[in-house]
Amino acid sequence: MVIELKTLNDTKKLASRIAKKIKCNELILLSGDLGSGKTTFTRYLIMALGFPEDTVKSPSFTIVQEYLHHGKSVYHIDLYRIEKESELKELGLEEILSEQSLVIVEWPEAGKKIFENCGRETLKINFCFNKGRRSAYLTNLNI
Ligand SMILES: Nc1ncnc2c1ncn2[C@@H]1O[C@H](COP(=O)(O)OP(=O)(O)OP(=O)(O)O)[C@@H](O)[C@H]1O
Ligand SMILES: [Mg+2]
Repeated sequence: MVIELKTLNDTKKLASRIAKKIKCNELILLSGDLGSGKTTFTRYLIMALGFPEDTVKSPSFTIVQEYLHHGKSVYHIDLYRIEKESELKELGLEEILSEQSLVIVEWPEAGKKIFENCGRETLKINFCFNKGRRSAYLTNLNI
């Protein structure tokens, strides 16, 4: 399913719809070019889950960030700077995926194999920003 994201409010509405559908034990993979809206979506999703507005700082320089709020745990992972699969071991990615938490990943390509084999319900969103038009292509999600 493709959704046009003309304004920030469209991204916010998409995030709210998804927040209502998830159980917070899924894996959400966000792909798409630089500046296509992955962090923005993550920020709105986390807000829609009840976390404080400033939970997701921008820009983020940490690869793995855990946010905790009222017993809810969300991992926000950005693999942009990861070059080798061995680096993912050092980050403890497999341990994170085995915990009871929501895991959101920007630039998931480097961890493709680990994500495919982790056994989590996985939602994929591909963000596009082309000729001034933004959109999101959703896989494995009925909203
Ligand atoms: N739907 C939208 N409408 C208008 N502007 C948007 C929208 N979504 C994101 N933006 C803007 O685009 C810019 C880049 O967004 P964002 O940082 O979320 O991209 P990103 O995909 O996370 O980039 P990176 O690949 O660098 O991590 C921000 O200034 C953000 O406000
Ligand atoms: Mg980002």
